[in-house]
Amino acid sequence: MKLGILTSGGDAPGMNAVIHGASQVVRAAGGTLAGFKHGLQGIVDADVCAVDVLAAEAESSTAGTMLGTSRSQALLDGAGFERALAAASVDAPDGLIIVGGNGSLNAAHQLATRMTVAFVPATIDNDVPGSEQAIGFDSAVAYAVDAVERLRVTAAALPGRAFIVETLGGDNGNLARAVAAAARIELVVTPEEPIDPPKIAAGLDLAARSDAAIVILCEGATNAVALAQSIEPFSRLRVRPTILGHAQRAATPTEFDRTLGFLAGAAAASELAAGRSSFVGLHTDGTVHAERLGNLAHR
Ligand code: F6P
Repeated sequence: MKLGILTSGGDAPGMNAVIHGASQVVRAAGGTLAGFKHGLQGIVDADVCAVDVLAAEAESSTAGTMLGTSRSQALLDGAGFERALAAASVDAPDGLIIVGGNGSLNAAHQLATRMTVAFVPATIDNDVPGSEQAIGFDSAVAYAVDAVERLRVTAAALPGRAFIVETLGGDNGNLARAVAAAARIELVVTPEEPIDPPKIAAGLDLAARSDAAIVILCEGATNAVALAQSIEPFSRLRVRPTILGHAQRAATPTEFDRTLGFLAGAAAASELAAGRSSFVGLHTDGTVHAERLGNLAHR
């Protein structure tokens, strides 16, 4: 059995655990796992390395991706698509595992028209249709909650300040809402709801009476500096922005992401071993399921 794997799109904590899970299944079957470097760029350029199960295991608890990643789907336009298929036919004739978000899922669908592909959702945005959970989301939430707890400490030490914590998340508020829920913060600003500065200011002033005054903001709604400026005229507090930014993507993988990532990678490799193109859906209870790739019935 000769399989391939690549990580694509934004890096997400836990991607290395997916690689580890896949490599374990491949080793048990006496096969080889080719790692294409820097996502789709690697398969188009046939930039490939052998994935060693021990090396993958050593990296499985680290952030980032040991294979690197890239974003552009244009890589699969025209000649790029044929070059990717040619590289796969040499190094991964029995199938390719693609680990990433929605752009990577599109690439998986495209490649699956001509070869066997298994897809594993991995994005801190947690916005892949058909998967309750994506690898990396839990870790990104944990990182942000830690930042909130630190702001609670400084808020208690020096009252009179309110804090805006800006998360990544693109144009959906999944990450910001999950951070707010986990950190017990009632004020959340997301792209899905209109921004109401006087209302946020009133909420912060109220929160400051019993706890730290903190609002969680999704980057897709506005930026933390602009939001702070719009709130301050309505609040008696000094409003300070904290932008978590791309550090969130490099969060240390939580135990949940490591375990789920391993299971997902193993499931993806098993699907390819059985000759199936599959979507590996992930659940909030830490389980995974495989279904036919392209089954959009419930999405
Ligand atoms: O990978 C998802 C994500 O981190 C989003 O949350 C964010 O909006 C985007 O990627 C940032 O993209 P880039 O790394 O290209 O700046």
